Amino acid sequence: MKKETILVTGACGQLGTELVGELRKIYGEGQVLATDVMDPKSPSLQSGPFEKLDVLNKQALGEVVERLKPTQMYHLAAILSAAAERNPTLAWDVNIAGFMNVLDVAKSASQKVHKVYAPSSIAVFGPNTPRVGTPQNTITDPTTVYGITKLVDERLADYYFLNYNLDIRSIRYPGLISYKTPPGGGTTDYAVDIFYKVVKEKAYTSFLGPDTALPMMYMPDALRGTLELMDAEASKISVRSAYNLTAMSFTPAQLAEEIKKQFGEFEMNYAPDFRQQIADSWPDSLDDTQAREDWGWKPSFGLTEMVEDMLKNTPR
Ligand code: NAD
Ligand code: SER
Repeated sequence: MKKETILVTGACGQLGTELVGELRKIYGEGQVLATDVMDPKSPSLQSGPFEKLDVLNKQALGEVVERLKPTQMYHLAAILSAAAERNPTLAWDVNIAGFMNVLDVAKSASQKVHKVYAPSSIAVFGPNTPRVGTPQNTITDPTTVYGITKLVDERLADYYFLNYNLDIRSIRYPGLISYKTPPGGGTTDYAVDIFYKVVKEKAYTSFLGPDTALPMMYMPDALRGTLELMDAEASKISVRSAYNLTAMSFTPAQLAEEIKKQFGEFEMNYAPDFRQQIADSWPDSLDDTQAREDWGWKPSFGLTEMVEDMLKNTPR
């Protein structure tokens, strides 16, 4: 087993709950400290050390880092797109001030933090970004507060790498689909919600219109991609802001059609709300050639495989 000590912030969320489990499998239960402002609900988080930690409290964060002496930090605490539109000030504080706290504490830790992971999002793109096959380097003009904060974070990550040699790595995740922990207030959440409603009620009303294409990824691919990026030789990492990464792209109508094929008939309705405008400002699909070339990224789950696995595992 590799000898690492790992600190995870925002560990109770959709990604953290599963990533902590994977990290503990690799590095050992006791080697991964999961933290969040919330109490842990998932048994996988309770299987190892957990502490309450607000990333806005820099002193507390610094004390944890000085005590734990982590070799790696995974900073997952964030306010996602739809939640951020409801409370822009909180999103600004958590997504930017919280991130700065993590960067500063990591940079000045008395024992070196070897690597920091802090994900970005497709939300950094905007209405003038090429929508189809969005390149790694292109126009980034986000119109959501979440996207603005993630873009600032990308620039800060690059800055801390260039100026302080902090080995920071990041992925612009597309919408993440999973069944273990509900998503925390994003625009791509419909692609998770639909499974819960279909298996329980045989009906779903989508808050995005039928033809809204978005890039998506199944959680096992997201976990593997994250760990592969973190394992890659530093010399292979040419992007320090955040890598485009994708696995599939589909619309609510296409997802419904695939679910009907595999599950059987259900009632699908559409009632777009404020999240439609957010989705309309994001890409339909991404070009992730840079991640494939630099550290060998290759997704395993397409739409058919993802739907099959979600239908098998979504709690009834
Ligand atoms: P989530 O909303 O499910 O979880 C975020 C966690 O952060 C929550 O448990 C919350 O309690 C915690 N948190 C909020 N404020 C905090 C604070 N002040 N201090 C400590 N913890 C705090 O989000 P997620 O889906 O797990 O996202 C993890 C990361 O991945 C985020 O950076 C997010 O922007 C990024 N991301 C996620 C997706 C997705 O589809 N889930 C897509 C793109 C990017
Ligand atoms: N899935 C995320 C959201 O919708 C994208 O970052 O907010």
